[in-house]
Amino acid sequence: MATPLSVTARAEALIEALPYIQNFRGKLFVIKYGGSAMEDDHVIDRLLHDIVLLEAVGINPVLIHGGGKAISQRMREAGQKPHFVNGLRVTDAEAIAIVEDVLDRVINPDITARIIKFGGTAVGIPGKTCLVARKLPLQDSGSTKVDLGFVGEVVDLRTQEIEDAVHREVVPVISPLAQDETGVVYNINADIAAGSIAGRLKAAKMIYISDVPGLMRDPDDRESLIPSVTRAQIEKLVADEVITGGMIPKVESAVHALNEGVQKVHFIDGRTPHALLVEVFSRKGIGTEIVA
Ligand code: ARG
Repeated sequence: MATPLSVTARAEALIEALPYIQNFRGKLFVIKYGGSAMEDDHVIDRLLHDIVLLEAVGINPVLIHGGGKAISQRMREAGQKPHFVNGLRVTDAEAIAIVEDVLDRVINPDITARIIKFGGTAVGIPGKTCLVARKLPLQDSGSTKVDLGFVGEVVDLRTQEIEDAVHREVVPVISPLAQDETGVVYNINADIAAGSIAGRLKAAKMIYISDVPGLMRDPDDRESLIPSVTRAQIEKLVADEVITGGMIPKVESAVHALNEGVQKVHFIDGRTPHALLVEVFSRKGIGTEIVA
């Protein structure tokens, strides 16, 4: 348990939240949630509780989730060995069936049910009904080129169902899958998909919840967290190799979202209790914000 706060301090936290509640009412927040932040039951519940609170004060959250370990585990059970090239899961026909089953029939309904359990309203939307993809071209892996199988990139969005849900004040919960014009289902990078959804819906905020505190100058040093950066500064951080690896697609889609009119992008750590509420409803926040 955190140290107990005085009654005054608790009231002050609510008062500090007031201008943000006033400002963010009726605004759309696209929230991407994945990585090891979605492994532990308790951590998942805490996060979804926060989302229900956002909804209750009039914010419209749109949630895009990842798959993570559950998929790898199910693949191992089926005798498949999870294999990644440049951070993307090699997905053959058997694997995409497993991925679809785990995402749309296990994880997505579970998240939706938990939001409802906390008194919110939510509807599961399979990504393949709103994200249009094409198969990714061959990828470089060392000196060879590999076919990743059923891995796609999003080329179009059909956002009507998402917008209808938002309009009815129901939280859309979207899985990271897409479909091409012929109905073939593809695994997609959920970070990039979330960024394009945020851009298309002209969300006020795009929030990435993962298992790092935010953008850091030194990944091993929490103290090196960068609380606030501009879009222009981001390019320099990438050029200087401060931002590397799995952070790059996130940051690129953040910049894309900002270019499309999203006002702010946030990176927060889902393992920190109620990081989402602290980021949104306090002045200082807790993670990194990228401002246009
Ligand atoms: N709560 C405010 C917002 O959501 C400020 C957040 C500041 N966060 C930060 N990492 N500096 O816009």
